[in-house]
Amino acid sequence: MNILLTGGTGYIGSHTAVVLAQAGHKVILFDNLCNSSNEVVGRLEKIVGKKIDFAEGDVRDTALLIEVMRTHQIEAVIHFAGLKAVGQSVADPILYFANNVQGTISLLQAMQQLQIKTFIFSSSATVYGEPVYLPYDEVHPTKPINPYGDSKLQVEIILRDLAQSDAQWKIACLRYFNPVGAHDSGLIGDDPNGIPGNLMPYLSRVAAGTLKYLNVFGKDYDTRDGTGERDYIHVVDLAEGHMAALDFLNKHAGLHVVNLGTGKPASVLECVRAFEKACGKPLPIEFAPRRDGDLPIYYAKADLAKQLFGWTAQRSLDKMCESAWYFEQMHNK
Ligand code: NAD
Ligand code: WQD
Repeated sequence: MNILLTGGTGYIGSHTAVVLAQAGHKVILFDNLCNSSNEVVGRLEKIVGKKIDFAEGDVRDTALLIEVMRTHQIEAVIHFAGLKAVGQSVADPILYFANNVQGTISLLQAMQQLQIKTFIFSSSATVYGEPVYLPYDEVHPTKPINPYGDSKLQVEIILRDLAQSDAQWKIACLRYFNPVGAHDSGLIGDDPNGIPGNLMPYLSRVAAGTLKYLNVFGKDYDTRDGTGERDYIHVVDLAEGHMAALDFLNKHAGLHVVNLGTGKPASVLECVRAFEKACGKPLPIEFAPRRDGDLPIYYAKADLAKQLFGWTAQRSLDKMCESAWYFEQMHNK
C-alpha cells in the first residue's frame, strides 16, 4: 500500500516507517520538522536500503496535503503529527488544540476530498486520566487531566462521529502507553531537543555523562518500591503494532479503539537498574519531590490488541534499555 505517515520523521513515525517499508509498503513521510530533523530520511533509507519520500509541510495546510496525497496515490494514513508535551499543553492549551485537533480536522478534510478512508490515529493513555481501576482497559472512563490529553480525546470523539456518519471509514485509535528504546541499528531513536522531560532519554544522557544525575520524582508512592510505575513499551513493538492494525483495518471497517502496551508496569528504580545493566555502570540518582500531575501507577490491559490484531509486545525492559543505550552511543559519538 501507499501510506502517508504524518509526523513521519518523528520518534514513533520513523520507527513505523522502517517496519512498513521493510514489509513492502511505500511510505511517504509528511512533517513540518518542528520536533525532528530531515536527516532522519537519509538514516531511514540506510536502514531499509531504498528511497523514502519526504514532503515538508504542516498538517493544517489542507491544500498541500491534497496535493501530496494525490501525487503519491495514498491509500491509507497514519497520523503521528502532533505536540506531546504535557507541561507545555498546560501553559499553552490553544497551541495544542490548534496543532493536534485543528491539524487532524484538516487532514481528515483532505482525506474526504480524495475519498481515502483508512486512518490510524496516535492516541495516548493520557486520555484515561485518574485510574478508576487498573489495568486501564479500553472502556475505562476517559477524563484527561491536562490539555494534551483533552486534545487527544477530542480527536477520538471526532473519529467516533465520522465513523458513525460513513460506514466506509476504517479507523484505529491506538492508545500508546510509554514508548521507549530505539531501532537496533542505532540510527534512529528518541532524541528530544534540550533537556528531556521523559525518564528514558534523561537516563540515557546520565549514562552518557551529559547529565549529572537522575532526579527520581517521588519515592513514597503506593507502588512496589515507592517510585512511579509505568507501562514501558519498546518503540519497535509499537511500530509492529501499527502494521498489525493496518492489516486488520484492510479487512474490517468501523472505529476500533485499542491499547498498545505490555500490561507489565515497571518502576523508576527498576528502569534505573535495567539501564545500569545495559550501560555496565552505576547511574547516580537523587530523590526529589513528586512531579505535579504525575500519577502513581498506570498500565495497559493489552488483551484487545491481541484479540483483534494478533499482536502483543515482545521486547523486554532490558531490550528497551540496551537499544536506547546503543542509540545514545551511536548518535552522540
Ligand atoms: P515526535 O515529536 O517525535 O513526533 C511527532 C512529529 O510530528 C515530529 O516530527 C514533529 O515535527 C511533527 N509535527 C508536529 N506537529 C506537526 C504539524 N502540525 N504538521 C506536521 N508535522 C508536525 O513525537 P512521537 O513520540 O513520535 O509521537 C508521535 C505521536 O504519538 C504524537 O501524536 C504523540 O502525541 C503520540 N504519543 C506519543 C507518546 C510518547 O510517549 N512518545 C505517547 C502517546 C502518544
Ligand atoms: C515516567 C516516570 C516520572 C523523568 C509521559 C506523558 C504521556 C506520554 C508518555 C505522550 C514517572 C518518572 C521521569 C525524570 C523521574 N506522552 N521520572 N525523573 O509522565 O509517564 O508520560 O510520556 O502521550 O502523555 O505524560 O512519562 O517518562 O515523563 O515519566 O522520576 O527525570 O518516570 O515521575 O513516574 P509519563 P515520563
